[in-house]
Amino acid sequence: MKDYIVKDEWKIIEERYVPEHNQITESLLSLGNGKMGQRANFEETYSGPTLQGSYVAGVYYPDKTRVGWWKNGYPEYFAKVLNSCNWIGINVIVDGESLDLAKVKEVHSFRRELDMKQGLLLRRMDVTLSNGARLEINSRRFVSMHNDELGVIEYSITSKDYNGPIKIESYLDFDVVNQDSNYDENFWDAEQSESEINNHYVQAVTKKTQYTVGVAMQNRLILDENGSDQKSTLTALPKKSIEAFNLDISEGSTVTVYKFVGITSSMNYAAGDIKSKAKHIANQAGNYTFDELLANHTRAWSDIWDMCDIRIEGDVSAQQAIRFNIFQLYQTYTGQDDRLNIGPKGFTGEKYGGSTYWDTEAYCLPFYLSTANEEVAKNLLIYRYKHLDKAIENAEKLGFTCGAALYPMVTMTGEECHNEWEITFEEIHRNGAIAYAIYDYIRYTGDKSYLAEYGIEVLVAISRFWTQRVNWSERKGQYVMLGVTGPNEYENNVNNNWYTNYLATWCLEYTMEALNHVNSDNHARYEELIKKIDFPSGEVKKWQHIVDNMYYPKDEELGIFLQQDNFLDKELTLVSDLDPKHRPINQKWSWDRILRSCFIKQADVLQGFYFFEDHFDEESHRKNFEFYEPRTVHESSLSPCVHGILASKLGMEDKAYEMYLRTARLDLDDYNNDTEDGCHITSMAGTWLAIIKGFGGQRITEDQLSFSPSLPAQWNSLSFKIKFRKNLLEVKIEKDKTEINNLNGPAMELLLEGSKINLPESNLILT
Ligand code: BGC
Repeated sequence: MKDYIVKDEWKIIEERYVPEHNQITESLLSLGNGKMGQRANFEETYSGPTLQGSYVAGVYYPDKTRVGWWKNGYPEYFAKVLNSCNWIGINVIVDGESLDLAKVKEVHSFRRELDMKQGLLLRRMDVTLSNGARLEINSRRFVSMHNDELGVIEYSITSKDYNGPIKIESYLDFDVVNQDSNYDENFWDAEQSESEINNHYVQAVTKKTQYTVGVAMQNRLILDENGSDQKSTLTALPKKSIEAFNLDISEGSTVTVYKFVGITSSMNYAAGDIKSKAKHIANQAGNYTFDELLANHTRAWSDIWDMCDIRIEGDVSAQQAIRFNIFQLYQTYTGQDDRLNIGPKGFTGEKYGGSTYWDTEAYCLPFYLSTANEEVAKNLLIYRYKHLDKAIENAEKLGFTCGAALYPMVTMTGEECHNEWEITFEEIHRNGAIAYAIYDYIRYTGDKSYLAEYGIEVLVAISRFWTQRVNWSERKGQYVMLGVTGPNEYENNVNNNWYTNYLATWCLEYTMEALNHVNSDNHARYEELIKKIDFPSGEVKKWQHIVDNMYYPKDEELGIFLQQDNFLDKELTLVSDLDPKHRPINQKWSWDRILRSCFIKQADVLQGFYFFEDHFDEESHRKNFEFYEPRTVHESSLSPCVHGILASKLGMEDKAYEMYLRTARLDLDDYNNDTEDGCHITSMAGTWLAIIKGFGGQRITEDQLSFSPSLPAQWNSLSFKIKFRKNLLEVKIEKDKTEINNLNGPAMELLLEGSKINLPESNLILT
């Protein structure tokens, strides 16, 4: 755990240059707008530890899987989000020496900050180069939310004591690599490169997937009154376009480069338009000042904040953290495009390949349901609906038949593309999360028509998978499910993971209920669907038999469900018994030791309690929580949020607060020593859940919105807005009272701590 980020309500600030922190800060201060993203790399040359990262949504490479023993059913490739054109590059060469923070003689001051209100990255540093020249650098940069194909940089160099020549090279560079690549390949083939006055462009195409990305730049150089004449040199290399400015700089004078960059791709344009669009964006932007463009961008952020901000009074650390989480989520996914999804690292790193995981359905969906228009959450569901055929193919490859679908654990296009067998492959519970998301969406929006339109097909295909995946145990006289991995990835290939067994039967029951609903609500559509999916009437009988006869491992004496068969045979120690030097165990222990231990990576049985809380009484909640939480190391970012919500429900205030800080500040404080790989974007939705469902106690109870707040003792108040069906509500929770206002929408009834509240109609705000 680290503690170098300055606490501030709206900013993420780093005040000192510490090379070991650089990659962490690069992740934290990343910028994005849903269509592209950029790590907080320095503009100029940097030879210290860095992960160069510039990403374009949807542009990926299928890196051929590399394994020792190839097994049937293994995915052909692991998808990788590609490090794309380096568009931020600005080299500064002073009297022949490149400015390189890792090599300077002295750093007099250094400060980087991300202003989340404005979506602006700032840096100021004062350094003396090895050749004795002292410079101050000030840079500002944003990735526009107003025009999501535009990036803008303002980069100023002030000479503190140097008089002499300086060269500034502003460039675009496709000669980039991924840190993570199976065969050390360069994934881009050069297509075009131009470098003329006011016309700089590079275009490259990805190997295999053939995505074209075009990047255009406009530079503007501004000298103060002391500035000398400048000469510019233009260079076009196959993957690179450089505009170099040569000038003399004198003590006290400042030179500023403005860089306007347009980035387009074949995801959104026909081949013939990619170049003209990128150039148009850069040229248009070049007609405005940095501040004018920034104002448009900031306005777009202000609209997002107006809806999504959560205010916490009395706890700066908690306030900063929730804003950071919301900020990163909206930088990653804005919901405009149903081909896109939310990679666990968003645009902040390469790990997890930028692919889609069950995280979206289990964690992110509720955030977008409550903070964005209904179409955004619906787009996330439709993304999976469109992948149904591929999920059926995926199951067929493994030997399943008759339209059974197994959704991938990791995907870009609907195909499975993970790179781990026992862990990822066997996590078939992801199929259940996709069904659960349909339920969650309908429960929240009330939009039952989704079932007839799209939902049923997905649910039936998933149910068919479970039906074939279980087997009848003669010995038990019950159905069992063997050889799976539950959400806790620190156990592989286990039998009867309680969560998976429970989720499977829930899916079957929910699918039967959904079919009955469509049959009675829209019989013609039902008939049509039955034909389409070839659904014999006897199929549900088998489902019911499984529901009635499933085996669930449990221990009556302890009053708990067992994570899997024989869990209690393990040596049952506690996380508190672990020497802190051994943590995180995934970095300190052998895999063998981890698998044998009782330590749990993330909520597993408790994930089931979170999803299905109404199915269990409070005593059962408590016993399971008290048994499993003390054995959970929370080494998955997805873990603390679920535990936080359950702790709030159980009235365990300290635990709930501890878990909140852990989920909310996971990256800011680098709890798991892995933020340098990128931020944990999907778990940031979990942070939001820990506030809204945890401290706010928000639920849907019998088709009504309900709240049962429990404010942490450290907070004076908590307030947020929430969309629910036709209403936009504002909730303010204080120590001794909760106020809920209907900001917009018809009169509605809701439940506050179990009592009915009527809110009058309002049209204060037009949404
Ligand atoms: C977690 C998975 C998760 C993945 C991507 C892993 O560490 O164990 O549950 O899907 O990260 O976030």
